[in-house]
Amino acid sequence: MTTFLLPAVSSQIEHRLASAVRDGLASRPKRLPPWLFYDEAGSRLFDQITELPEYYLTRTERAILAAHAERMIARAAEQTGNEPAGNHSIRLRITELGAGSADKTRLLLAAAVARQGTLIYEPVDVSPSALEAARQRIEQEIAGVTVAPRVMDYTHDFEAATTADRRLVLYIGSSIGNFDPQEAAELLGRVRAGLKPGDALLLGVDLVKEETALLAAYDDAVGVTAAFNLNLLARLNRELGADFNLESFQHRAVWNAVESRIEMHLASRIAQLVRLERLDFEVDFSAGETIHTENSYKYRPEQAETMLAAAGFRPVETWTDARQWFSVCLARAE
Ligand code: AVI
Repeated sequence: MTTFLLPAVSSQIEHRLASAVRDGLASRPKRLPPWLFYDEAGSRLFDQITELPEYYLTRTERAILAAHAERMIARAAEQTGNEPAGNHSIRLRITELGAGSADKTRLLLAAAVARQGTLIYEPVDVSPSALEAARQRIEQEIAGVTVAPRVMDYTHDFEAATTADRRLVLYIGSSIGNFDPQEAAELLGRVRAGLKPGDALLLGVDLVKEETALLAAYDDAVGVTAAFNLNLLARLNRELGADFNLESFQHRAVWNAVESRIEMHLASRIAQLVRLERLDFEVDFSAGETIHTENSYKYRPEQAETMLAAAGFRPVETWTDARQWFSVCLARAE
């Protein structure tokens, strides 16, 4: 599907891209923000990552949802004691932050429809085309679901539409892991502020595990993650007229045990000067110098609940897999 953006919107996006790239490449150490990964080619590569044998995250979370979706929905919809007298059947409305995890989402939507017959599902994303694709897919596949997409940058604002239904917000896929702890706390706080007491949040977090499994997940044998990381430079070549030679940069994944995160970097193999024509900007690299492109934080099992409680949620129940590699926490806005 082709989406035509209004000129004002596309120039805002270009401006955001240009200033992020200029600031990131001028800083020391050099960095670029991970949202830059997700142009069309990057989103396709990310979909391929989720199918890799080494990338356990998607598969493990999907198995947890498949095993417990019914109970997750039942617990999200249970009485809290604050409902108006006589209100015995609580209806859920499901909001998802991001529109990219539709195949796992389907398990929860189907469980909600089985419980209440029909459902309003609101995916929230900055990309109108990703939202439209999610709408078509979900409405075709699950009878009883009405999709009400919302174009919004939930990483900066979160405003939930007013509804008498109880809201269940999904933030799955370990997306919270791409924010540092301070940003993650702020994001959860903003989500909480947009909810009413009794509403719920289902959060998927990736857990700390042995380093070899973590490194393999972010540096797979066939090189899809390397291509995903390098696509960032290809994007700057396409959109900013840069002359990055992709062969002269190398994907690197590092486990930072102190910060409890996987870091992704792009290391320059040689000393070189790169020009970004449309920014009228040049960047110097020494041999071995890196651009830090992503952090992916891994939590200890109890940390997710602590983080939720600090943001004003009361943890209700947490589900995990047999190896304790991933966890899904349900929490209620107090
Ligand atoms: C989207 N996010 C949760 C992924 C992650 O695992 O941090 C992005 C990713 N980066 C490399 N592989 C996948």
